[in-house]
Amino acid sequence: MFSYKAVICVVIFGSIQVIAAQNPFYYLKQCHKADPQVNTCLQKSANTLIAYMKRGIPELELSEPEPIVIDEIGIALGNGPNGYRATFRNINAYGISNMTITAVRSDLDTHQFQFTLYIPHISARAKYVSTGILLLVQASGGGDYWGEYDGVRAKVYIRAKPNFIDGRTYLSLQQLKMDFSVKNIRMGVENVHNGNAVLQAALNLFINTNAQDLLKEMKPDLKKKLMSILTKFVEHLYERIPYDSWIIE
Ligand SMILES: *[C@@H]1O[C@H](CO)[C@@H](O)[C@H](O)[C@H]1NC(C)=O
Repeated sequence: MFSYKAVICVVIFGSIQVIAAQNPFYYLKQCHKADPQVNTCLQKSANTLIAYMKRGIPELELSEPEPIVIDEIGIALGNGPNGYRATFRNINAYGISNMTITAVRSDLDTHQFQFTLYIPHISARAKYVSTGILLLVQASGGGDYWGEYDGVRAKVYIRAKPNFIDGRTYLSLQQLKMDFSVKNIRMGVENVHNGNAVLQAALNLFINTNAQDLLKEMKPDLKKKLMSILTKFVEHLYERIPYDSWIIE
């Protein structure tokens, strides 16, 4: 039997393939260096890439991006043998792919870029183990950590260098820096081992009243991990996308 649905499918998917063949970098909006609004163009280009990344981009070997997994970060409060130390492992963060690039600054002569981005909400889940004394209480043990972060703002600075390979220009990453802030944090622990309901409640009260300070303590380690994830990601893109297919000089 003749199926008009099959014909429509063939026509639709056929034309998608034709479009992809016409522009192998369909997931990127091109910008012109001479455009006085080039930063606005770069912002649109980055947001276009993010929108395609949410579904995965097979041409770039990028699969669905959620969650971001961080193997381990540590936190230390207080010195001495009884200072409190906690290690968070197998951190799964959800919501980062909902980011929007809100501003771009660039110097295309020196290949420097600064992206400002906003993530409305991140949820994190992890396992933690801790040793030491917190609030005069022996808080050695472990359990599950949860965190809900609202209004995450970040700045990412990138400096790159152009390389000429087989007649095309590619960028190679020279430097990457980042910083971030979180407007509102709720977090806590559950299923605390070696503890009881009183200890768990005391820990949760402490954690929530000191959330921003705890984030500050976590930041150096967290930034290091995030910078390494970002560095790998940017290098991955730079190796696969010629600079001249993104920015026309
Ligand atoms: C991204 O945002 C949408 C809309 O607010 C929300 O439904 C979805 O759960 C978010 N994705 C993640 C992974 O948090």
